[in-house]
Amino acid sequence: MSEHILLIEDDYAFQGMLLEALNEQGYQVTTASRAEEGIALARQGDYDLILTDVMLPGMSGVEAIPPLREAAPNTDIIVMTAYSSKELALEAVRRGAYDFFAKPFSLKELDIVVRRAMEKRRLQSEVFALRSTLRHDSPVSRLIGESPPMREVKALIEKVAPLDTTVLILGESGTGKELVSDTLCALSPRAGQSFIKVNCAAIPEHLFENELFGHEKGAFTGAAAAQPGKFELAHSGTLLLDEIGDMPLAIQPKLLRAVEEKKVERLGGRRPIPVDVRIIAATNQNLSDRVADKSFREDLYYRLSVAIINLPPLRKRKEDIPLLAEHLVRKLGSTLGIPVHGLAPDGIHALMQYDWPGNVRQLANLLERAAITAEGVITASDITKALSLHANPAALSVEGCSGYAPEAFALPLKETLQQVERNLLIEALRRANGSQKNAAKLLGVTPKNMWAKLQKH
Ligand SMILES: Nc1ncnc2c1ncn2[C@@H]1O[C@H](COP(=O)(O)OP(=O)(O)OP(=O)(O)O)[C@@H](O)[C@H]1O
Ligand SMILES: [Mg+2]
Repeated sequence: MSEHILLIEDDYAFQGMLLEALNEQGYQVTTASRAEEGIALARQGDYDLILTDVMLPGMSGVEAIPPLREAAPNTDIIVMTAYSSKELALEAVRRGAYDFFAKPFSLKELDIVVRRAMEKRRLQSEVFALRSTLRHDSPVSRLIGESPPMREVKALIEKVAPLDTTVLILGESGTGKELVSDTLCALSPRAGQSFIKVNCAAIPEHLFENELFGHEKGAFTGAAAAQPGKFELAHSGTLLLDEIGDMPLAIQPKLLRAVEEKKVERLGGRRPIPVDVRIIAATNQNLSDRVADKSFREDLYYRLSVAIINLPPLRKRKEDIPLLAEHLVRKLGSTLGIPVHGLAPDGIHALMQYDWPGNVRQLANLLERAAITAEGVITASDITKALSLHANPAALSVEGCSGYAPEAFALPLKETLQQVERNLLIEALRRANGSQKNAAKLLGVTPKNMWAKLQKH
């Protein structure tokens, strides 16, 4: 099938000449004589290339670049301009045009420029095709889980990854937001480029601007040399704004401007620096609530949430636990060298009983702990032990809380105590070979009390 070009040119004579030349070179061409018309066509059709004039009635070709890119994110745009408006052409490139050439040009020149753009496109789609044939090796396969919500998440990742749109990843702590951002990046055309991660929760408010936008030499005392910010470092690649919910309100307008205008200004700098960055944001906070109580800017929220990936908590997809656990245990063997061969069926059963408030990260931490005491395979008893340690670390550690996974402390007190109680009941019954009376003795409670507790659980 021949490649399809969208040509936006208001000069009918010139349009006709180009149309003929391009047809002769074997391209299919659709024409428009106004930018607005071109944008509408780009939205509907599937074009391999857009050629646009700069001087158009109404919206100019330069102004049309961002909406054209939005309408056809995977189509390159080439701008044609008269010598006198070369400045404009440069501006067009800044706004996201792939290339430009100056009028008058020879048909040979046209041929070369168009051919080069098509070649690049062909190569890109070959890379995509290759990637999808290597499906088993595809980055999404690192995301374990075949439950309906996880399948949906994976399908959405594959859909939005190749686009340049901003993605907002939402989910409780430990649900895999960072892993999803890695996958998005790995599946995007920016895969080989820089991938910069910024943890907004770890930056003191007064250093934010410097961190994101950098500074010029002498911008403040101590600024001995100029330093680019994370936006500039991510140029032509991807920027992850992790824990975006922790971004101070005061910085948010600047961030919005940088995302919208694709330009940053260093501290103490006078010229805006163009940056071509794909933004991914992630948070475990409920951003729409934050917008409602005005602690997060609404305009920024809408700008970031062009596509939203919602990661369900593990308790809502418990059917993923067996696969995840097997995967995590295998990883323990290969990365930590812990000699475990897998999980016993009763081990998996025990994992399914728990609600995992710390999600996959908590599951991974717990399995690591259980693997240490396990002999060969992880059994229900290894898990019960690790869970009681996990839910109540202070009871087993002289130092108290330090060194334990923070999610253990995110548990509500009541839930935690109940979990500990349940684990202790199970352990006592196990040691007493199922005798309730002896288990009650072990726990120092009356048989009646023991019976009531068993009923409760
Ligand atoms: N679906 C999954 N398959 C395999 N591993 C996973 C999956 N989800 C999470 N993990 C693993 O769990 C751990 C926690 O994931 P990650 O750091 O991506 O979570 P997060 O949502 O960013 O958490 P937080 O909000 O605390 O930063 C990582 O080691 C990650 O590799
Ligand atoms: Mg994270």
